[in-house]
Amino acid sequence: MALTQFLLFFTLFSLPSLPISTADSDAYPSIPGTASINGDFITADELKPIRREVYNEEGKIYDISHRLTPEMPSWDSTEGIGRFLWLAASIKNGSLANNSEMKIPTHTGTHVDSPGHFYDEYLDAGFDVDSLDLQVLNGPALLVDVPRDSNITAEVMKSLHIPRGIRRVLFRTLNTDRRLMFKKAFDTSYVGFMKDGAQWLVDNTDIKLVGLDYLSVAAYDDLGPSHLVFLKGRETILVEGLKLDDVKVGLYTVHCLPLRLVGAEGSPIRCILIE
Ligand SMILES: *[C@@H]1O[C@H](CO)[C@@H](O)[C@H](O)[C@H]1NC(C)=O
Ligand SMILES: *[C@@H]1O[C@H](CO)[C@@H](O)[C@H](O)[C@H]1NC(C)=O
Ligand SMILES: *[C@@H]1O[C@H](CO)[C@@H](O)[C@H](O)[C@H]1NC(C)=O
Repeated sequence: MALTQFLLFFTLFSLPSLPISTADSDAYPSIPGTASINGDFITADELKPIRREVYNEEGKIYDISHRLTPEMPSWDSTEGIGRFLWLAASIKNGSLANNSEMKIPTHTGTHVDSPGHFYDEYLDAGFDVDSLDLQVLNGPALLVDVPRDSNITAEVMKSLHIPRGIRRVLFRTLNTDRRLMFKKAFDTSYVGFMKDGAQWLVDNTDIKLVGLDYLSVAAYDDLGPSHLVFLKGRETILVEGLKLDDVKVGLYTVHCLPLRLVGAEGSPIRCILIE
């Protein structure tokens, strides 16, 4: 152990009561349960992580993934995802290092669906998230606003006039205005694709990456039918639970990277937009 580390270790243990600040990021709701250490020996500046939504130094990067927190919505639940992360080994309890463990459904927060999600034979055949095409998940992408008074039907898709050749589209909907991804209780009235909207997209566009701003790209009422239409051809990749707040409509480069979970039909995903 280096001397500074030892001193930090010693300091943490010898303070009778460690002042913990609960006010974390000024810009954004912080992750509940985390805190900055604000003691005499460690200044907030030294130990306070910078949490950002937008990186602005050399070209703009928007983080369009949601933070994973216990309060974030979980499918069909009023309770959020709940406690999913714990310190299995901790320095405070005598371990050399802190080691956390987690347990979450693979379709939690910002995540991706593989063809195996709604087709059993595809999952059996190995069409898991590890088989998803990184060429589809990365490249030029269009962010569009859809009309706020409807789910995404064929009519709505037609009205968007998305040109042929566009392969990746992120659909911002009423879900973003309603801040549904920031609400703990799952809301079945979210906006998504109706079956005819999904079919229209598959038949009349070159879109292979479909992104949406709630936990499913398919409207609750057409959950099965819309997924079946999208995933049948095994070419369309569905990215769900995107954070599209405060990003201007337009053309970006998207980068989405799922975990290489062999055998899983879903995975949490990190997505960014580069301007
Ligand atoms: C290590 O774990 C302790 C709890 O034992 C926690 O207070 C501390 O913030 C953790 N340190 C890091 C670097 O995560
Ligand atoms: C440390 O160990 C005690 C006793 O086993 C336990 O109650 C506590 O939750 C542990 N703390 C952490 C941070 O693991
Ligand atoms: C979208 O469909 C859901 C049911 O899946 C419904 O509750 C909601 O009101 C619809 N939203 C709009 C804007 O029509």
